[in-house]
Amino acid sequence: MASKFQAPRGTFDVLPEQARARGRLEQAAAAVFSRAGYEPIATPAFEDTALFERGVGKSTDIVRKEMFTFEDKGERSLTLRPEGTASICRAYLEHGMHKLAQPVKLSYLGPFFRHERPQAGRYRQFHQLGAECIGTDSPLADAEVIMLLSDLLAELGVPGVELRLGSLGSFEARRAYLEDLKAHLHAHEGELSKDVRERIDINPLRAFDSDDEGTRGVMASAPTIVEQLEGEDAEHFEEVRALLDAAGVAYAVDPTLVRGLDYYTRTIFSFVCDRLGAQSEVGGGGRYDGLIEQLGGKPTPAVGFAAGIERILLALDEEVPAAGRDAFIAVADPELRGRAMALAVELRHAGVSAELDLAGRSLKGQLKHADRIGARRVLILEADGSAQVRDMTTGEQHAADPGKLVEEMTGGES
Ligand code: HAM
Repeated sequence: MASKFQAPRGTFDVLPEQARARGRLEQAAAAVFSRAGYEPIATPAFEDTALFERGVGKSTDIVRKEMFTFEDKGERSLTLRPEGTASICRAYLEHGMHKLAQPVKLSYLGPFFRHERPQAGRYRQFHQLGAECIGTDSPLADAEVIMLLSDLLAELGVPGVELRLGSLGSFEARRAYLEDLKAHLHAHEGELSKDVRERIDINPLRAFDSDDEGTRGVMASAPTIVEQLEGEDAEHFEEVRALLDAAGVAYAVDPTLVRGLDYYTRTIFSFVCDRLGAQSEVGGGGRYDGLIEQLGGKPTPAVGFAAGIERILLALDEEVPAAGRDAFIAVADPELRGRAMALAVELRHAGVSAELDLAGRSLKGQLKHADRIGARRVLILEADGSAQVRDMTTGEQHAADPGKLVEEMTGGES
């Protein structure tokens, strides 16, 4: 029964058999967040376009090429959110969260949208889970959010994960460094890819991300900001590293690490997984001490991360079996369907998962269906008012008191 309609390019349906692994992941994330005091927050799926232009940065690929932007009927420009941090900072300001005890620790999970070229692990609608710790510049906060993601990946059993750590320094330090980097790139312009060459003065850091062979050669001898870190920036980076060392979290310092968003300052990090192809990053983030001010608030340091739910699921590549049902209620006579329904409801209220036939099957058909949906026991309501209980794993069957079927199923605790 094919339809001419399909899910739009780069999007996908989450079918029940996939929803189970996803549900397990979401529950594990909620538990990790809650144990560390990261309260859930939800923001709208779309925002004013200007929020992302301002927050994510006009020179980024996300803003230049990847946003789903549309005009509403009031001619306002809106954009499906490509990421969550700008929205959360907007909410922090809009709801006066700076008046709360700082830092404010928030967590989230939901759909995000980027108009990227679809491939395994890269979609146009995808899902992220993330955490933001707003209102402190302590390296403890950097270490805490890194450990949240590291704990979650370990708890889920994601194999082959490596943590890469870098620092971009403060905005001022970065400005000085960027001048050095631009000079290096200009000196080797002829060897760079067209894309990198055109953006030397707009976004030189992205040259570190290039796949182009010539560009990679130039970047191998480029100055890195990590080796230029000084004063408080250097101290901050060292403290984050010491905290991770003390907690036994393994990482590799990667001086060439850059990220696709403009708001980062100081710490940046990336969790990559060797079981994924080209889209190997399961999650990442960093500190963004200037973002809230950029959005009109007072200077407010913050740090956070987001992880791609689909990428974690791809890396896990696991099938979570269906839970099955505790009971299926079969009727020997169609007249008994009303009783079967009442019993199913009573069982469900008692915490027992129970189903009944909704399709008018014969008794034989009902037993077959019970087996197919993985029912552990079938309660058979007989035409003479008696009842039978059949254990579907052993095949054992016995007569039961028709007035005490709930007790029978709950072990007498009802
Ligand atoms: P991001 O690196 O752009 O950071 O995205 C975070 C994660 O989302 C990536 O590591 C990846 O797993 C997943 N992801 C991104 N794009 C796609 C896509 N098209 N398809 C599937 N998965 C994708 C941020 O979004 C920042 N807001 C992270 C952050 C929070 N920084 C500070 N706080």
